Amino acid sequence: MTRHIVSVVGGKDAPSTGTYASTNPAQLSETVAQVGLADADTFAAACRTAKEAQREWARVPAPVRGRVIASIGRLVEANAEALARLVTKEIGKPYAEALGEVREIVDTCDFFLGEGRRLYGQTVPSEMPDKNLFTFRNPVGVAAVITAGNFPVAVPSWYLVPALVTGNAIVWKPAEYSAASAFAMYQLFVKAGLPEGVLNIVFADGKETFEGLERALTEGTVQKVGFTGSSEVGRKIGELCGRHLQSPCLELGGKNPMVIMPDADLDLAVEGALFSGFGTAGQRCTSLGTLIVHKDVHEEFAERFSRAVQNAKIGDPAKDVLAGPLLDQKFADRYEEFLTWIQPHHEVSGPTGRITADNPRHEFDGAHGLYYHPVVVDNVRPDDRIFLEETFGPIVGVTTFTTLDEAIELANRPGYGLSSSIYTTDPQAAFRFREGVSAGMVSVNNSTSGAEAHLPFGGNGKSGNGSRQSGIWVLDQFTRWQAMNWDHSGRLQKAQMDVADITPDLEFRI
Ligand code: UN1
Repeated sequence: MTRHIVSVVGGKDAPSTGTYASTNPAQLSETVAQVGLADADTFAAACRTAKEAQREWARVPAPVRGRVIASIGRLVEANAEALARLVTKEIGKPYAEALGEVREIVDTCDFFLGEGRRLYGQTVPSEMPDKNLFTFRNPVGVAAVITAGNFPVAVPSWYLVPALVTGNAIVWKPAEYSAASAFAMYQLFVKAGLPEGVLNIVFADGKETFEGLERALTEGTVQKVGFTGSSEVGRKIGELCGRHLQSPCLELGGKNPMVIMPDADLDLAVEGALFSGFGTAGQRCTSLGTLIVHKDVHEEFAERFSRAVQNAKIGDPAKDVLAGPLLDQKFADRYEEFLTWIQPHHEVSGPTGRITADNPRHEFDGAHGLYYHPVVVDNVRPDDRIFLEETFGPIVGVTTFTTLDEAIELANRPGYGLSSSIYTTDPQAAFRFREGVSAGMVSVNNSTSGAEAHLPFGGNGKSGNGSRQSGIWVLDQFTRWQAMNWDHSGRLQKAQMDVADITPDLEFRI
């Protein structure tokens, strides 16, 4: 059954000027949703609507807003299987992972429902008597949230849930190719009792969204932009926000390194590398980019790894597989371009490219879907494009090192800084790596992906502007500190001037 969905602004369907067919990447003939696309006007109008609604929402006591978050969590939990099935159908994410993704929304709600009762400010002593100082967290206002479709519901929840509990209104622009999953999640959020206009969903292409956002920023109806997507678009959004003196929350690409030390448990490392590199068909921003393997264990590791990749199950995402298809045609096209970066000095074992009857993977012919062979590219050099740039999809580079310092340098060289991993049994190495690596997230003896929802999530360099999502850290994205002083002395006490002076005897020596 094809769904027909359109943007909803202020609780009402908004006009569309075009359509987009969101298809099942495992069954390309199946249209999951016909999506009405809005234009820049509608985006800007949604921001105005959100601004209106935000005033009342901010007046709802934070503990009551926390209860709404609790209800969202319950609704998502009660609809978990249906939502996960839809995610699997729309973007081809293996069902077990899709269920995990839905779980991540519930985890986020569990964490933030209490924040409604804990949105602490401080009482602070003043320099002067009969004067009290306080700090308050104020909502920023309206957040425009633009999200990718590889995590069509979990990652948006990292923005939506904390933004709502802290009293903001939202205009959410999800990726077109995951519109049905986003719309289902939007419905669950609204059914928890959000007043109309507090959460608005707008489907639009990149160009119209950018124009609409520019207009909204000029009109003063957006105070925070949250963006998850490519470094290239993130840069443009960062520039736009900068012109309006705003700092967006940017969660961008990654070229996540995994270092394999000579003392590593190689079986564990192989398992971690396999999931990091090829789980989700390599389409997490936290997916493994390059394996940086110590020379002494390279041969052994490479052999075991290539065997594991050979044996991994790729196929129907509704079944128990490591990976399903790529997200959407656009991603398949881009991935095919990454494959052209493979050069003669690289070593690739096994087939590459689309899985078809002529290029099958074992018995699987990939019919009807955007399935691709997982590719390991060995002998990658530090100046190769494949080493330096993100290659979203099932491709992992391998290079070697001799000293830990060299490994750290290689890990940082591409200039991203989202996630990283080291496999070692030496605590010294683990902590030296943590200290030296530029990534916002570090795993020891674990996958580069799979961050938990209550730790800070985010990157540095080309992976982001240092903003962090999730956990308590994201509160600083959606609130602004306000300092208040209250003088109840009945006279004007001047700070730094009318302050009692206590004279010490600084000449004293024992
Ligand atoms: C992303 O790909 O944008 O840490 C986010 C992870 C997931 C989130 C990935 N929890 O791999």
